[in-house]
Amino acid sequence: MPQQEDPGADPHGQRDEAEQRQPGSRDSQDRGPDDGTEPEHEDRCCDLALSDSGVPLDGGGDQLAAEGDETVDVGAGKGPDSKEGGIEGGRSDDGTVAPPATVQAMAAAARSRAPDDDQLLRAAEIIAAVLPPSPLVEASVSGRRLWLKLESLQPTGSFKVRGALAALAAAAAEDPATEIVACSAGNHGLGVAFAAARLGTRATVVVPMTASPAKLARLREFDVELQLVGAGYEQAETHAQVLAEQRGARFVSPYDDDWVIAGQATMAAEVLVQRPSAARLIVGVGGGGLAAGSILATRGSEVIVHGVQLEQNAAFAAALAGRQIDPAALGSTIADGIAGGIDASSITLQILRSARFELSLVSEAATRTALAACAHDAGLVIEGSAAAALAAALERPGSEEGETVVAISGRNIATELLGELLGTQTL
Ligand SMILES: Cc1ncc(COP(=O)(O)O)c(C=O)c1O
Repeated sequence: MPQQEDPGADPHGQRDEAEQRQPGSRDSQDRGPDDGTEPEHEDRCCDLALSDSGVPLDGGGDQLAAEGDETVDVGAGKGPDSKEGGIEGGRSDDGTVAPPATVQAMAAAARSRAPDDDQLLRAAEIIAAVLPPSPLVEASVSGRRLWLKLESLQPTGSFKVRGALAALAAAAAEDPATEIVACSAGNHGLGVAFAAARLGTRATVVVPMTASPAKLARLREFDVELQLVGAGYEQAETHAQVLAEQRGARFVSPYDDDWVIAGQATMAAEVLVQRPSAARLIVGVGGGGLAAGSILATRGSEVIVHGVQLEQNAAFAAALAGRQIDPAALGSTIADGIAGGIDASSITLQILRSARFELSLVSEAATRTALAACAHDAGLVIEGSAAAALAAALERPGSEEGETVVAISGRNIATELLGELLGTQTL
């Protein structure tokens, strides 16, 4: 049974820099500075500029629209392919229009299942053909010796490229003409964009209007269609699911997807080979794809998979305990990749409920300190979601636990925020 701590009720409510992301934007972390790269694809955007929790964001809104962007209003009663844009519903097999909730449920259910052993093996082959194993290095951070699995060195700056590669390659193997639709402005979006470019797959990434211009600029480096859809992650995701249904495309969830989970599993599989003596693998938990993959990859080993959430963003922890947290009640954090809500029907919850899985919560303050300590002590730039996992490792008792591996799951942090954290944290 999963071991859970109380999710905690008091959001820190810290919102002290423009680049700090909002709750609900699980996969909405920032990139480096806007490099002014011109898009090679058609962008569409809408005029809603709210965060995933419905809160207006700095740097969002119409600042995101590049010259030539099409503005799409996704207000009620408008479908993605209608002349007016927006979402009404999608066509089912018999050509009828289904309401958004039905389409959403259909799309979500389509691949919401645990990968089987063949898929885990196939994902390992797919990823090994494209990506070398990420380094596992021993480091001393805040006086604690740890093993750091450097997913931050992946070409897109995070582990998310693994799941995207597995999902897109599997889809292409089934039908080379398969079109992909994903929803993300962060690490999953970049992973899908990278995989699509690599495999020659046509992909559309739906980006919430909450994305920062810097993040969007990074996505524009890839030849994918971008659609900017407002009012937060949930609305953008619904739009993406309806769009996929209408186009007959494959919707690739950032976590609730068998191939994505199989892809994420390859990180822990590498750890088992690189460090067979590892006792504990600590990973940040957003939708739970990385944790679920890690559980599946480490079955039969002694490794304990240990998930981490922020105290003020413990939606997954609550969902494991059968409770739902109102996305509006989630706090603001630098760990944007693990800040969002979770669909109660996600297969990741089932996988983690049925496995030996531990989950702990860390504070925003400890996460910020860990991020700065990692830069100072190990010379590594990491993003907030990776820092949360590191913070949990630093809070654990010492060496009697055996070797602890921390998933340094990403490096994608806005330079302004990084600078501020390095300048203000007392180590
Ligand atoms: C850097 C980083 N770490 C951890 C996670 C959590 O991954 P998952 O959603 O699979 O739990 C994310 C999710 O976006 C992420 O971007």
